[in-house]
Amino acid sequence: MKIFVIGSGGREHAIVWKIVRSKRVTKIFCAPGNAGIASLAECVDIPVDNIAALADFAQKNAVDLTVVGPELPLTLGIVDLFASRGLRIFGPSKAAAVLEASKVFSKELMKKYAIPTAQSRIFNLSADAREYLGEISFPVVIKADGLCAGKGVIIAEDRAAAEKAITDILDKKMFGAAGKEIVIEEFLRGEEVSVLAFSDGETVRVMPPSQDHKRIFDGDKGPNTGGMGVYSPVSVIQDSDIPRIEKEILLPTVQAMKKEGRRYVGVLYAGLMITAKGPKVLEYNVRFGDPETQAVLPRIANDLVDLIEHTVSGTLDKVRIEVSPEAAVCVVAASGGYPGDFKKGLPIVGLDAAAKLPGATVFHAGTKSEDGRIVTAGGRVLGVTAVGKDLRAAIDRAYEACSKISFDGIYYRKDIGKKGLKRMTNDQLSNVKQGK
Ligand SMILES: Nc1ncnc2c1ncn2[C@@H]1O[C@H](COP(=O)(O)OP(=O)(O)O)[C@@H](O)[C@H]1O
Ligand SMILES: [Mg+2]
Repeated sequence: MKIFVIGSGGREHAIVWKIVRSKRVTKIFCAPGNAGIASLAECVDIPVDNIAALADFAQKNAVDLTVVGPELPLTLGIVDLFASRGLRIFGPSKAAAVLEASKVFSKELMKKYAIPTAQSRIFNLSADAREYLGEISFPVVIKADGLCAGKGVIIAEDRAAAEKAITDILDKKMFGAAGKEIVIEEFLRGEEVSVLAFSDGETVRVMPPSQDHKRIFDGDKGPNTGGMGVYSPVSVIQDSDIPRIEKEILLPTVQAMKKEGRRYVGVLYAGLMITAKGPKVLEYNVRFGDPETQAVLPRIANDLVDLIEHTVSGTLDKVRIEVSPEAAVCVVAASGGYPGDFKKGLPIVGLDAAAKLPGATVFHAGTKSEDGRIVTAGGRVLGVTAVGKDLRAAIDRAYEACSKISFDGIYYRKDIGKKGLKRMTNDQLSNVKQGK
């Protein structure tokens, strides 16, 4: 089979890395790819939003299956376009991708079908939104409706901050058309977890849960980023919680989408807050998460192409996901200054030494080849990933791999996975107390 992967981040490198392991694959293309992906696939220079050119390429090269990484081409309707030309592609249609593209749509869907989520109200007039602030308590969460590259959510500690967010989004049009409407929602307390599942429109198959680290600094301090690292398994939820999440959240979402005439095929990603009252949906994404995929795929024993084909063919009920008992940790190495301004084009050294460590894999995100060297080309540069017999071992290996790599200004968090360790220790302690 010839496979075509679309995207250029750590997520896509992990997808390509996993697809390489499929016995059925003879050739992999990736558009546009990066320097790491180029060692496993033939990279073609087509941007992810040029969906017509991507379809032309797939047709000309007789691609058997296309796998879409990022949300942008999905929301532009790449799946519909490929389908109209008889090309097989993995991902939701444009009508289904609205689950991520519009937070107003997803909140209304959750409300209508009683899927657990934060209480919320929707506004398009700033005067109404401001008036509503008089009725609620703080902090409160204000979200622009559309895609804002991870910048459209403001946690307002007090009324003044909330009023500013309302003015910025609805009146000053800070996010353009993506901010024509806003959601004002209850602030949920708890710990976040990412649950990704395959959905063929009827059946879901849940991948091992993982936990991202959104903030730039250790201890979850500083501004939000695209994600600074991830680990799996998590201990904030146990394996035994998965059937509940499937029954109360994932399946009802897929069934709701079907009832709305927006059959959901692809990866359904539920960003959950584990509250004292159980898991609640913060948001949906309509694709593999990044960096989550970099820690989740190494823990899946199945052939990824098999899982994708069953998803596309509507036969997911015929397969089970086999999860490896090993833990996986991905530490994101970023350019100094990220998520603010940063330099590009800095040579990266030590990649081979890191990858030689047993269990370690370095996924590339913002990298490119220049004059025979690999240089930085983005904010998040690498996803330094390792598996180990348990979380402690995986963390140690991932950081050992990080220590081999350098480029000018390299920055990574030193506490990826620590929350999982801490809680495990507490759980173990309470087990001891309970005489288990
Ligand atoms: N209701 C909420 N209560 C508390 N924190 C929230 C809430 N909604 C969002 N957040 C925080 O804001 C982050 C971004 O929100 P999210 O809905 O995932 O939007 P996006 O990923 O599109 O920016 C979440 O990862 C979470 O940390
Ligand atoms: Mg999010």
